Amino acid sequence: MKAFVLAAVIATLGPAATTFGSYAWPSSYDEIEDIYSLRQGYEARLLGDKVASCGVDGGAESQAPDWLRVAFHDMITHDAAAGTGGLEALPFPQSVRCRPLGLGVVAAHSACGGITNIPYRFGHIDAQSAGAAGVPQKHDPVTKMADRFAAAGFNQADMIALTACGHSLGGQHGPDHNHGLVEDDEEAEHDETAEEEEDEEPHDEEEEHGEELENFDTTPNGFDNLLAIEYLDGTSKSPLIVGENATTNSDARLFASDGNVTMVAVAASQATFESRCCKFFARMIDSVPSSVRLSDPLEVIDIKPYITGLYLNAASDIVFAGRIRVLTTEGPSVGRDPNDLAVRLARTSRLDVWSSDLIDTTCVGDAYGPFGEIFAWYEFETFIEDGITRFNIHLAVPSTGEKTVYDNGGLDYPVEYKLLYQTAESCVAWEAVDGARVMTAVVSVHNEFALLPLKMDLVRHERRQGSIKRTLVKVVISFTRTTEERGD
Ligand code: HEM
Repeated sequence: MKAFVLAAVIATLGPAATTFGSYAWPSSYDEIEDIYSLRQGYEARLLGDKVASCGVDGGAESQAPDWLRVAFHDMITHDAAAGTGGLEALPFPQSVRCRPLGLGVVAAHSACGGITNIPYRFGHIDAQSAGAAGVPQKHDPVTKMADRFAAAGFNQADMIALTACGHSLGGQHGPDHNHGLVEDDEEAEHDETAEEEEDEEPHDEEEEHGEELENFDTTPNGFDNLLAIEYLDGTSKSPLIVGENATTNSDARLFASDGNVTMVAVAASQATFESRCCKFFARMIDSVPSSVRLSDPLEVIDIKPYITGLYLNAASDIVFAGRIRVLTTEGPSVGRDPNDLAVRLARTSRLDVWSSDLIDTTCVGDAYGPFGEIFAWYEFETFIEDGITRFNIHLAVPSTGEKTVYDNGGLDYPVEYKLLYQTAESCVAWEAVDGARVMTAVVSVHNEFALLPLKMDLVRHERRQGSIKRTLVKVVISFTRTTEERGD
């Protein structure tokens, strides 16, 4: 029997909060792992091609240097001794869904040719108050810069090397450059408050000069040690090394401050540069308040299901639709050739009895990860009459008969079918009114639970005094039971 009662709620839209732990599906790792892993191809996420694009000439199209610089400015607020300040979750308020700052650094590095997999631990949070002031300025004396780095936990050699790593990309921009990362066009366009907040973004005094991008080295879109080489052999054209005004030649001052010892080491080999910079970048993105616990390093997941549809249709059948993502980098040698691979799902009924009918999938395309990973996507859509509580994923190689069952580490993949989100009957208003967009959510509730109160936790943005970043506030909203019933 499948009888459902419909309930609805009207609310304003907000993002979901994230937690973390070891991976088992479903997990709060899922969204961040997608952003990390799916850089190009089918179902690729924005981070790969737009947000962390490296550009062809390091010019205005290049977002990677912005990510790196914004992350540095955020990190340098860290006070290691006090355990305060440091890298936050997100650089700008409208970026909640897809712009974790630390991940931006990891993506920027690989987008610009970096070959090392920088461990990315997530769990950064947004600061509730301003961190330590004092982002180093190009006219600062070396002692002042060194004091700020030291407070953040970086000694003089670290400071020189980290700056040489950062200034391997990009350059000095003209006054129109806003140092804002690429906006989520759709969100920003339809979120009136986002535009207002852009205006509030403070501009560094160092950006007030110059009209064009002046590159720091001859490969502003390549993550390499050329900056150090050009600095040492006297061919550098960097505005921070050979600029007309000696006071603002901060790199020249900084690099020479230990008698060039660090710069000689950085220039010695690309391999040393790469490994040293990656260690510093990892330290930079792990510089967080002592109250923050970061996760273990994120890893690409081998087999990952996605449920894209689970709802009651007009005929009162449960529609169960989704995708399975299979890591196929190793190819035929490990039975992962998409041309010779059948992916099926086994499922239970609502009484938890395994059905003998497997759900077929269709291979629909590939996606590509940051370090040569290849994923094949398989999609399915089926109608279920007798409910579902869990499923497993079956991989078969038709040419050899080899079969493997993936059961979520022994847990099976759980499905909650007694509370279904009615996607087609729910909506979010396109236009904002008084800064808020109205959302109507409709869910069907199995009649077993129909008389119980139903509530939704909604997390929404709210402005804060004295900060350009909005805070996230949870509100609990009650659903109203409708008179509609479906099923028998
Ligand atoms: C004492 C230390 C530092 C000073 C004084 C400094 C200063 C500057 C200045 C003046 C610019 C040009 C800004 C503009 O006109 O657009 C710049 C750009 C940049 N900085 Fe630094 N910086 C320092 C350290 C760092 C570090 C440690 C990193 C990263 C790890 C970094 C990453 C960058 C990047 C990637 C750019 C290029 C941005 C772009 O092209 O959009 N900087 N920095």
